[in-house]
Amino acid sequence: MRAVDIIRKKRDGGELAASEIAFLIDGYCRGDVPDYQMSAFAMAVLFRGMTAEETAELTLAMARSGEQLDLSDIPGIKVDKHSTGGVGDKTTLVVAPLAAAAGVPVAKMSGRGLGHTGGTIDKLESIPGFRTELAPEAFFRQVREIGLAVAGQSGDLAPADKKLYALRDVTATVESIPLIASSVMSKKIASGADAIVLDVKTGGGAFMKTLEDAERLAEAMVAIGRLVGRNTAAVISDMDQPLGRAIGNALEVREAIAALRGEGPEDLTRLCLTLAAHMAVLGGKAASLDEAVPLLERKLASGEALEKFRAFVAAQGGDPAIVDEPDRLPAAPRRIPLAAERAGYVRRIDAEKLGLAAMVLGAGRAVKDAPIDHAVGVVLAVKLGDRVEAGEPLAELHAAGGGSAKAEALRLAAEAFELGGEPTASRPLILSVVTADGVRRTEA
Ligand code: URA
Repeated sequence: MRAVDIIRKKRDGGELAASEIAFLIDGYCRGDVPDYQMSAFAMAVLFRGMTAEETAELTLAMARSGEQLDLSDIPGIKVDKHSTGGVGDKTTLVVAPLAAAAGVPVAKMSGRGLGHTGGTIDKLESIPGFRTELAPEAFFRQVREIGLAVAGQSGDLAPADKKLYALRDVTATVESIPLIASSVMSKKIASGADAIVLDVKTGGGAFMKTLEDAERLAEAMVAIGRLVGRNTAAVISDMDQPLGRAIGNALEVREAIAALRGEGPEDLTRLCLTLAAHMAVLGGKAASLDEAVPLLERKLASGEALEKFRAFVAAQGGDPAIVDEPDRLPAAPRRIPLAAERAGYVRRIDAEKLGLAAMVLGAGRAVKDAPIDHAVGVVLAVKLGDRVEAGEPLAELHAAGGGSAKAEALRLAAEAFELGGEPTASRPLILSVVTADGVRRTEA
């Protein structure tokens, strides 16, 4: 077999055999297939696409390239949850204990944030003492004992994807649905869960800007799940405005705790209930979503989900007192209000700009491995459709100090809001659900 023949076959629109895909990926990992051939292959895929079978084979080849977690010793159907990344997306902090409280074992690997979107691991590390590096035995033991563990993604998880993603980044080949779908799913499959619930974000602050593209990506990932025997469902949710009100690590932990107390923002709570309901169904704890949602609402109302979160924080070395006293979380020394210059209805909130404002304040990283400040960020005072009077707050910046970062963050935050004379209809939070049965648009 030769890489050049495989590239040519794909370039000319042919369908690759599993052995050809494995040859390329294995060779790429060993260094036998050089970057220039892999780049040509990625470009051929970008133009020609892949069948569902080819995409599944690519996913499996990348999942096999490194460590593969075996969760089979943990009883029950283990369900993972993944978000394609959004601004203010703290759903894992709520969904994981909620699903675990309903009896779904959650053994989750999460990543750090980069750019305008945050990462679950950074949020968790804002809890004093919280450890995200867990030895495999401790990780498994914790899932067996309390039904929930979240650890930082090991560097050896799907290394083929890591290498290929870095190459795609510099060869203009990121935007290919089969390449994105296989990239996400390879890491999920290597993480060992039996079933996967995906939160695919769409809108200005998301990777997928249109609903149609988000649905195509979701369909590709659900198809991979079906072909490799991991039941997968995807919820497509709106990212035209940030989720909830808090953006920034400790600020988001606070908001997640409020949601677990039943006092969170409506959009965050609804999305978390929906995602956890899909997990409960895939995990065999409810026969349908109609049965799962009330079950999970009861877990919130009874405080069981909050207690699960407390046990989870304590098990990973964090200070469980933050659950009752969130003021123990890091807090920024300065709070700077951003006021509306005129009266009107909030017509647009640019999630990406607000994510960037939080990043400039120090909540996120412009480059990999940069240090972050857990305390800083942005808290929205308004959501789409709200009415404000001139001088009333649109948001509050939580900053470490003054200076150019503060000025830049204020500029970005001010640009993120657009006010108008009439309220505009905001689109639904949950736009579509994709399962093995197909695509179902919701709340239309
Ligand atoms: N996120 C991933 O993990 N992979 C991609 O290809 C794109 C986004």
